[in-house]
Amino acid sequence: AAGASAVIIMNEGQPGRTDTLQGTLGEPTVHIPAVGVSFAVGEELSAAGTSVRVKTDTTSEIRKTHNVVADSRWGDPNKVVQLGAHLDSVLAGPGINDNGSGSAAILEVATALGKIPTRNKLRFSFWSAEELGLLGAEHYVANLSPADLAKIKVYLNFDMVASPNYALKIYDGDDSDATGAGPGPEGSGEIEKLFEKYFDTLRQRHNGTDFDGRSDYGPFIAAGIPSGGTFTGAEGVKTPEEQTMFGGTAGQAYDPCYHQACDTTANISDKALALNTGAIATAAAVYAFSRDLPGP
Ligand code: PHE
Ligand code: ZN
Ligand code: ZN
Ligand code: ZN
Repeated sequence: AAGASAVIIMNEGQPGRTDTLQGTLGEPTVHIPAVGVSFAVGEELSAAGTSVRVKTDTTSEIRKTHNVVADSRWGDPNKVVQLGAHLDSVLAGPGINDNGSGSAAILEVATALGKIPTRNKLRFSFWSAEELGLLGAEHYVANLSPADLAKIKVYLNFDMVASPNYALKIYDGDDSDATGAGPGPEGSGEIEKLFEKYFDTLRQRHNGTDFDGRSDYGPFIAAGIPSGGTFTGAEGVKTPEEQTMFGGTAGQAYDPCYHQACDTTANISDKALALNTGAIATAAAVYAFSRDLPGP
């Protein structure tokens, strides 16, 4: 009910985890990090799930939460190019920029490219329970056989791609542009360069962002899979230099409604969403047809 407080605890699929998330249910609010499995891209659809306990002030129940994973029907099944975005939100709000934006963008690309016969197989994944600690993506990677893991040649992640006070950020896979996190698996720098080239071609400035595992690519880089992605900023504050590069307002958060009730359809930059959807489509198309995928 609107106004009720809720706590979601426990990932039953991974004993020992005690991830918690608390918030107040408002309207409109996505209460439960779960999705239906009601669409297919191409002909193949598989769903893998894990369970979470959902508690409100009056109820406590275990809900199964599902990733939605759709493979394109064409392409070499031994050369998978995987894209992902998390579909859940925090309890505090509807999660339109975080992460309706990334989910909508990859769905649009799936709808277009899923119809085309490609050299490599495209896999589109919509993760559950990211906000509880990357649970859906962790569950997926942990439950792949070594053989199936080895087929995934590239992973591309999109979490927040339409922040209203945006910067055009690229995951720093080669550890050359941002601070701290260290390089990703071999091949991640090549993915970063493709996104740089895309923005350069459109005469759009861009910068790097820490490749630190703070989204669903974490389990993929931990497994050694070349990975990348784009990002327009969360609670971080835009610098004066970034105001020069991208417009917007220095000194304010890239997303002033990050994890709040105001993360609604009003909380979107259409320009950032369009530029990033083009970046996603470009990278997906390049790697869908590549004979020489990133990595060793
Ligand atoms: N994963 C964060 C979230 O969903 C967003 C984020 C991604 C923040 C990357 C920083 C860096 O809330
Ligand atoms: Zn979030
Ligand atoms: Zn997110
Ligand atoms: Zn870099």
